[in-house]
Amino acid sequence: MSAATPQSANSLPRDRRGRPLRDLRVSVTDRCNFRCNYCMPRDAFGRGHRFLPKRELLRFEEIETLARAFTGLGVHKIRLTGGEPLLRNDLEDLVARLAQLDELDDLALTTNASLLTRARADSLRRAGIRRVNISLDALDERVYRQINQIDSPLGDVLSGIEHALGAGFDAVKINMVVQKGVNDGEILPMARRFRGSGAILRFIEFMDVGNHNRWSLGRVCTAREILETIAAAHPLEALEANHRGEVAKRWRYADGGGEIGVIASVSEPFCGGCARARLSAIGELYTCLFAVSGFDLRKWLRAGLGAEELRARIGALWRGRRDQYSVERLSQPRTAHSGADAAQNSQKVEMSYIGG
Ligand code: GTP
Ligand code: 5AD
Ligand code: SF4
Ligand code: SF4
Repeated sequence: MSAATPQSANSLPRDRRGRPLRDLRVSVTDRCNFRCNYCMPRDAFGRGHRFLPKRELLRFEEIETLARAFTGLGVHKIRLTGGEPLLRNDLEDLVARLAQLDELDDLALTTNASLLTRARADSLRRAGIRRVNISLDALDERVYRQINQIDSPLGDVLSGIEHALGAGFDAVKINMVVQKGVNDGEILPMARRFRGSGAILRFIEFMDVGNHNRWSLGRVCTAREILETIAAAHPLEALEANHRGEVAKRWRYADGGGEIGVIASVSEPFCGGCARARLSAIGELYTCLFAVSGFDLRKWLRAGLGAEELRARIGALWRGRRDQYSVERLSQPRTAHSGADAAQNSQKVEMSYIGG
């Protein structure tokens, strides 16, 4: 049972644009063993980069306390992210704590799967993870290594995917960030590899998140281009969304080969249904993936605020939210991280810090 009394549905907070709070993404570390060129490019995340000191990270009981406050505000779904969340050896302890929250009907994980052994997949499943999303951007070994920038072999992630599929999760999804001129040639091989595999492949438009990934509009392969490439070989039919605010648009192969998704944050923003909050590893609340700053919740936790008070304060933050970055980007298109844009962007939070 939740320590705090859940609020009735009509008193749950809505932000300034009428959006409820339904999903919470929790980053458990800002570290990663990969250096994907679109997320943590080596030149910006090399030896000189200062990661969060371990002593600064929220303890798992603190994450649990915050998660209780969030479920009291309407959150039904929690996704654990990083950096790379499997770098936390004791992640299963946190999963087991969160799995006990009554109001939660989905507990999921996003990982690069390089460390997802069979034993780890089984223990995460047993602890209470229901769904796993795995990043994989290419099947060509050279392209894969060119993107992860640490020469991580393709075999590791492919094994990780097999382990996830074998562990009995409710769903396993594969995330492919498509960068024009880098891995757009991998769209069809990826589609073919995962047709009928039991895993749902999602193609993600390359986003201008953070400040270092050399994003430009010219490097975005749009949802439309991706779908045309696939449909020319394997006709597709649109599917209904599973729920309002779903990030991916769903399609299925007309011949029964299964489902794919496309996440079109650049060409077709979905801010109107965005009910997501993000918690950094040190307990800051971010109300948008593209925010420049977060709200320090750890300060309130450590000042000993009770469950009711925490919930009231977080609810007030949500009520003040206006974010719709991707919609605004579409109406005032920026073409690259350069010149005035770079200055304007210099404070944006990094993807690896906030977990996507
Ligand atoms: P499901 O619950 O399986 O639908 O997962 P998800 O797609 O919400 O999460 P995942 O961690 O797999 O993220 C897939 C992609 O969607 C990543 O590129 C995320 O950065 C992106 N994404 C998730 N939520 C948002 C969002 O609120 N805004 C934007 N712009 N992108 C998002
Ligand atoms: N654009 C789109 N998706 C990204 N991800 C990381 N950086 C970017 C970006 N710049 C994806 C990862 C992972 C998910 C959490 O976010 O591939 O699957
Ligand atoms: Fe790549 Fe994910 Fe690590 Fe970013 S956090 S570098 S997307 S594996
Ligand atoms: Fe939500 Fe911000 Fe993403 Fe829009 S850009 S969907 S407001 S996180």
